[in-house]
Amino acid sequence: MRTQAIMVLAASLGMAVGAYGQQGSELPFSAYVDQQGSIRLPKEIRSHWVHLGSWAVMDKNASGYGFHDVYTQPEAVAVYQESGQFPDGTVLVKEIREIVEGELTTGQARWAAAPKVWFVMIKDKKGRFPNHPNWGEGWGWALFEAKDPATNVSQNWQQDCRSCHVPAQESDWVYIEGYPTLKPLHSQK
Ligand code: HEC
Repeated sequence: MRTQAIMVLAASLGMAVGAYGQQGSELPFSAYVDQQGSIRLPKEIRSHWVHLGSWAVMDKNASGYGFHDVYTQPEAVAVYQESGQFPDGTVLVKEIREIVEGELTTGQARWAAAPKVWFVMIKDKKGRFPNHPNWGEGWGWALFEAKDPATNVSQNWQQDCRSCHVPAQESDWVYIEGYPTLKPLHSQK
């Protein structure tokens, strides 16, 4: 029973170990990471993953203009709520969508339309890719654009991501204050 539960957990976290039913160092640790450390964009985030929270950057001139929705695997939420830590293989996806607005029966409304980009972080507790420019501080870091979702356009996390995430360093580089699904349950303990 226990083995089965772990396999299910591993498979749904996107780990190849569970998917193939055997463990071996030659296998990649995540279905979204190949053996060289290249990161792939998960497709199933809205239909099968947990929506952790949303941010809205309303200033059209800001670099982050748009609606930001953040998703992770259900199993990662369960582990975080217990331990306050993201388990190995956790994937955080931030989808940024266009803002459109119009007069609806509710009032002047703004809503999220077509996706523009996806930011992805993948938890690596073992430092598997020490010299890879997309990996550092316990995470893999990637950026995908709607025009070509198959290609990670971030060459180097130190240049493309790090400085903006320094304010969140104390919470494992993640802006957890925006994710009530994680934070209140853990801090209630
Ligand atoms: C301009 C600053 C900035 C840059 C550059 C940036 N981030 Fe972020 N990131 C943020 C902020 C601030 C948040 C949370 C608030 C928001 O989205 O407005 C965030 C949230 C995220 C999230 C959701 C989880 C979390 O940490 O809260 C992911 C995933 C993410 N960023 C990945 C990346 C990756 C990967 C890169 C580099 C390719 C990157 N970010 C570059 C500022 C930035």
